Amino acid sequence: MTNRQSFKGRKVTVVEVGPRDGLQNEKAVVSTADKIEFVNRLGAASLPVIEVSAFVSPTWVPQMADAAAVFAGITRRPRTRYTALVPNVAGLDRAMGAGVQEVAVFAASTETFSRKNINQGIDASFDMYKALCDHARSAGVRVRGYLSTAFGCPYEGDVPLETVVAMVDRLLALGVFEVAVSDTIGVAHPGQVSTLLEHVLAHTPVDRLALHFHDTRGTALANVLAALSFEVGTFDASAGGLGGCPYAPGAAGNLATDDLIYMLNGLGIETGVSLPDLSEATRFIASRIDHTLPSRYAAARLANENLRREVRSEK
Ligand code: HMG
Ligand code: MG
Repeated sequence: MTNRQSFKGRKVTVVEVGPRDGLQNEKAVVSTADKIEFVNRLGAASLPVIEVSAFVSPTWVPQMADAAAVFAGITRRPRTRYTALVPNVAGLDRAMGAGVQEVAVFAASTETFSRKNINQGIDASFDMYKALCDHARSAGVRVRGYLSTAFGCPYEGDVPLETVVAMVDRLLALGVFEVAVSDTIGVAHPGQVSTLLEHVLAHTPVDRLALHFHDTRGTALANVLAALSFEVGTFDASAGGLGGCPYAPGAAGNLATDDLIYMLNGLGIETGVSLPDLSEATRFIASRIDHTLPSRYAAARLANENLRREVRSEK
């Protein structure tokens, strides 16, 4: 199942969510200029999709208050899609005002998480997202849908598979082009991923699905490997493993993009992403926050550089 031959030549789309999912939960205040530099460096690494920011309430998530200024400052590359998270029509209007052509809405699998995250229950959130999607469609803006807490909820625990299947259908019915099934708190393991995919893929074409893993328990890469054998072709990740979720206590950052690209490269899977350039982008943002990022690739790179420095000084 996981031998190199079976994946060689496959293409995977990596959605870089570090500037949004990562920075929304970092305590350090990252300046607008540094966010712009970070996004531009990610663009230089040829990431095909970068979630740049969120047009959410600045009272709720102050880290994303400068979304419009970040969009105004970045240099957009023709082959990269620059996207933003939006919770309502007001957020969509702000995003469109900033020239954003692709947005994402975020529904939850569980009532409690929905209320904590967006101050309303699931049904009310779908009314809001329906209005948003209708408005976006008439304006020619593409909409992605996230489904949070699909693998487990910090408040309600296990989530029935039938709920996840139904919620994916419900999001697709709004007209979103893809649903990013999300492990908000990083509880998923490969067995659970396989079972969930067996159920969801019985109803949904694989090209309408993405997976969004947080790496709280260190299983995110293994989860990607499990999902690859189901032909899933889109994975979210954040440079260096930045971030978490402000409304999911204890949630760690996303799967680190550099770790993901390293593994996909090793399997012969094409992403178009330059790992050296991505690594520079990761190093840049690491220098702007107040803790070491969890990326194993970044740690190994640093250790190798230190070793080479020692060897040179011994000569
Ligand atoms: P609310 O307080 O219930 O709504 O928030 P409201 O309509 O009463 O608005 C409150 C204030 O926010 C008002 O301003 C509005 O004008 C303003 P005031 O009158 O108090 O001065 N407002 C806005 N301002 C700017 N842009 C907007 C906007 N909307 C309202 N778009 C609301 C409801 C949904 C707005 C709020 O709860 C919110 O913004 N929540 C966002 C929470 C969030 O960003 N969470 C993290 C992202 S989700 C995530 O990380 C999960 C994901 O990664 C997948 C996974 O891992 O699971 C995607
Ligand atoms: Mg997330």
